[in-house]
Amino acid sequence: MRRIWIRIAKRIGWLIKDIRRSIRRMSPAQKKMWTMFIVAMLIGGFLGGVIGRSIEKSNSKKAVVAATNEVQKTEKKKQDALKKELFDLQKDIEATTADLPWNMVLVNGAHEMEEGYVPELVELKDGYQVDKRIVDAAKQMLADAKADGMKIVICSAYRSVSRQEEIFNDSMKDRLKSGMGYWDAYVDTSQSVAEPGTSEHALGLALDLISNQYSELDERQEGTKEAKWLEENCHKYGFILRYPPEKTSITGIIYEPWHYRYVGVEHATKIMELGVTLEEYLKDYYQPEGEQ
Ligand code: DAL
Ligand code: ZN
Repeated sequence: MRRIWIRIAKRIGWLIKDIRRSIRRMSPAQKKMWTMFIVAMLIGGFLGGVIGRSIEKSNSKKAVVAATNEVQKTEKKKQDALKKELFDLQKDIEATTADLPWNMVLVNGAHEMEEGYVPELVELKDGYQVDKRIVDAAKQMLADAKADGMKIVICSAYRSVSRQEEIFNDSMKDRLKSGMGYWDAYVDTSQSVAEPGTSEHALGLALDLISNQYSELDERQEGTKEAKWLEENCHKYGFILRYPPEKTSITGIIYEPWHYRYVGVEHATKIMELGVTLEEYLKDYYQPEGEQ
């Protein structure tokens, strides 16, 4: 083994000698040409390394973008499936909703309200307005709640479509500022703020009611005694808890323990007893008054 190494070393020595000899014999023009060739090889090697590294970098960037796109695609698929489910449900109830009376009108992500519709409005309290036809029921509910020791605060009632648009856009901006991508911001917003033209607040039939002990519009609102009172008693005044828990795939909206919608005592009582959403009720249980 050692001998082999000695032989290799000798051969390398001869090779170097040969090269030196060849260099000495070269004309100045040949020397210049070889120098240029070697310099070009070195520059080529250096540039190759730099370009290679930047290609590598851009490839890993591409991989991150591809992975992000993949996640977004999957999320979009899920959302599309959710929307399709909602659309299918809407198709089913299309026939029954065609001639619904004013108190049963359905608006949601797949069901826009009649364009340009503005209810006849009256003040409920503190400048908050509702459809004239529900004001007595709403006043009675708030008065009875107060008599039972509840401290309920109204935080929204009628909202015009343009006001809804402002709220929607503000929510989008907040989410985009917090670093969310456009699609995520849109999905997140539209599950808590109805898209303009699909909010019950624009019908004048919805009220957002919270406890004076807890001002956040989040799930913890349900822990207040005011929220419990409302859920238990709302039907007596014709109101329903419109966006119950575990029903987002049907309503398109997150659980909102503060959003109450007027449908009238008879239907509110059935809806709350059955534990269904307005969508489910219209599809499977609703019969126009006088046809039961
Ligand atoms: N927050 C409810 C869904 C609305 O915007 O009407
Ligand atoms: Zn609301």
